Amino acid sequence: MNPLPPKHLLAGIPPMPALPAAAAARLTGFLTEMEAQSASLIGYPCSQDFDYSEFAPLLRFSLNNVGDPFAESNYRENTFAFEREVIAFFQKHLRAPVGETWGYTTAGGTEGNLYGLYLARELYPDGVVYYSEHTHYSAAKIVRVLGARSIMIRGRADGEIDYDDLRETLKIHRDVPPIMLANIGTTMHGAVDDLKKIHALLKELAIARFYIHADAALSGMILPWVDDPQPFGFDAGIDSISVSGHKLIGSPMPCGVALARRSHVDRVARSVEYVGCMDTTIAGSRNAFSPLILWSAIQRRGEAGFRQRVADCLAVADYAIAKFKEAGIRAWRHRNANTVVIPRPGPAALKRWQIAPSHDIAHIITMPHVTRAMIDAVVADVAQSLNQPKEASR
Ligand SMILES: Cc1ncc(COP(=O)(O)O)c(C=O)c1O
Repeated sequence: MNPLPPKHLLAGIPPMPALPAAAAARLTGFLTEMEAQSASLIGYPCSQDFDYSEFAPLLRFSLNNVGDPFAESNYRENTFAFEREVIAFFQKHLRAPVGETWGYTTAGGTEGNLYGLYLARELYPDGVVYYSEHTHYSAAKIVRVLGARSIMIRGRADGEIDYDDLRETLKIHRDVPPIMLANIGTTMHGAVDDLKKIHALLKELAIARFYIHADAALSGMILPWVDDPQPFGFDAGIDSISVSGHKLIGSPMPCGVALARRSHVDRVARSVEYVGCMDTTIAGSRNAFSPLILWSAIQRRGEAGFRQRVADCLAVADYAIAKFKEAGIRAWRHRNANTVVIPRPGPAALKRWQIAPSHDIAHIITMPHVTRAMIDAVVADVAQSLNQPKEASR
């Protein structure tokens, strides 16, 4: 990208004041600190293997994707054209029929979940939201924000929803439409709720009015690239889906994609004169850089690149399991998941590797920046922390 003359020279307006020396030094220190931190991130599903510095010249513009990316807007410093290409990519790989679905880039997985459940609540104002106890904490917050009725369903020890508890609960509430939040990759176990079983249950109970939202924060960009995916997309009968962009793809700022059946979106769309377009999104002003980031990743990697990326992550996950086992530590993962579940390590190992614990388990997630050398070091630290007496290690 050729650098343009500074914007203020073109417009004849004064430049921004320079950054004071002390502030610049603080930023340099922060950069060094972030370099160190990123080398030890193994507990959260954020890829670290990217460099989007090509967009630095665009930091001089007030880019804003306010409004519907598929409509014209009065505000033209936007990246709608890139956003539409990103949505088309996700539609293809999440098996969404193009004419019948719509989407936009979100601030992350949580916003996509909020969007899906918002559409569901508009369709079924008296609907009850069902989600398993292994669901990301955003679900409980979202049902409070929406004022929706919700019921938490028991979860199996391996992270999937307990289908017997779901059946019994649905049976008792057959008079109100269920709004299912299905986990396509739970946060702690990487478990995928079985959409086929959920559909079969609804059929068995003769429930015809229902809505299924898929929370596919991480696995939504894993399952399209494996040979034998669990059902996860629109072809498996979902109404909406949320995927994070900063997880498998990787982004310097949190972002995501929400897709939904167009008929549900049309129900909430309102025309707004101020921005000159349809108001179909949750946020008004929206990040216009994230579509550029996702677009750039798609251009650089392509379908073959993503397939390889996922295969590599899964191979490193298997390497981790083997190494933990060698060290006498039980470790496992679900099919098509790069989330490796381990016993909760002691505090020093948790802190050093930014590992997220939950009760007596924890996980490492083999994102693309996680090397076999990192795994060796993590296994050694976890083993050491588990071998310490309980009082010292907790
Ligand atoms: C299953 C699941 N859903 C939703 C989210 C929330 O995503 P975000 O942090 O992008 O809002 C996460 C985040 O880890 C997650 O694991």
